[in-house]
Amino acid sequence: MGYKVAIVGATGNVGHEMLNILAERQFPVDEIVALASRRSLGSEVSFGDTTLTTKDLDTFDFAGWDMALFAVGSEATKIYAPKAAAAGCLVIDNSSLYRYDPQIPLIVPEVNPEAIADYKNKMIIANPNCSTAQMVVALKPLHDRARIKRVVVSTYQSVSGGGKEAIDELWDQTKSIYNPTDSKPPKKFTKQIAFNVIPHIDVFMEDGSTKEEWKMVVETKKIIDPSIKVTATCVRVPVFVGHSESVNIEFEDFLDEDEARDILREAPGVMVIDKREDGGYVSPIECVGDFATFISRIRQDSTVENGLNLWCVSDNLRKGAALNAVQIAELYGREILKKG
Ligand SMILES: NC(=O)c1ccc[n+]([C@@H]2O[C@H](COP(=O)([O-])OP(=O)(O)OC[C@H]3O[C@@H](n4cnc5c(N)ncnc54)[C@H](OP(=O)(O)O)[C@@H]3O)[C@@H](O)[C@H]2O)c1
Repeated sequence: MGYKVAIVGATGNVGHEMLNILAERQFPVDEIVALASRRSLGSEVSFGDTTLTTKDLDTFDFAGWDMALFAVGSEATKIYAPKAAAAGCLVIDNSSLYRYDPQIPLIVPEVNPEAIADYKNKMIIANPNCSTAQMVVALKPLHDRARIKRVVVSTYQSVSGGGKEAIDELWDQTKSIYNPTDSKPPKKFTKQIAFNVIPHIDVFMEDGSTKEEWKMVVETKKIIDPSIKVTATCVRVPVFVGHSESVNIEFEDFLDEDEARDILREAPGVMVIDKREDGGYVSPIECVGDFATFISRIRQDSTVENGLNLWCVSDNLRKGAALNAVQIAELYGREILKKG
């Protein structure tokens, strides 16, 4: 026996990946529906070997559906997620709209699966920001062993984190560099992204940080431990898919780099590729389409008492969004509905 599942935003980057991952992981589906805006009405999306015809989210009735995986941005989520939840359909949401609501669980299944119990507060579960999801998968097992005091993270985030238009902008601008008569000024990004990097993702906050940086701070606290201090610098880079992070961690207790490597090798969702030789680490292009969060360059930071550095890479459309949402759906099925 399986579930009735709605994919909301099925024509988008994350929606496509949600459909792929449900099929790849043989999620027990009895019925599945692809929803998007009226613009996409009738367009086709793939689910395994089958083709789904996209329906209009605005007129869809969620009554009788077990779960809806949302990937439509905060504005549309604000309108449609409460409707789905009121109809008794669990919402698993990829937008940032509900992440900071104390009533709503923010879940990374490898890290805080116990938070699933709070689904019943509002019938909504939030998925974290892409950069947070991959980082907390690596931090949690290290925190359990040596208690993290502070994290300094710099991100190298791919353009797919900004949606379909952002991918097109990098592609078009890259081509236009070789054809100066066809100039493509920035639209989605604030500056040229082709052959450049931009230290600005989401809006600026009063303290000078950006909202993307703020999200990493607040979400890490909510998912792992409010006592962990995080400072982040989030940077957009001209990579299509795959976010990378340079992470510096300060612990309460000493943690040797070899022990950290062993802990991470055993950690769920983590793959350690860490050879101190040419190419003995993972770059974003190699993580595309994978489920794992890859950790490389694990090394002691001797400039602080108990410090460690590492490099963390993951497919942002997968662990950063679609995979994590499907894992939450699996958890909900296993722990709450107990059908699958
Ligand atoms: N990309 C990432 O790495 C990532 C990571 C974590 C979270 N997220 C979040 O996931 C969400 C989707 O991101 P994405 O990258 O997939 O964006 P995207 O590629 O731009 O796709 C957006 C999707 O939302 C649909 N949509 C937009 N407005 C709608 C409306 N008013 N009614 C119905 N459908 C509407 C679009 O349908 P049409 O095709 O019909 O316009 C499309 O299916 C966003 O909240 C994003 O912040 C993304």
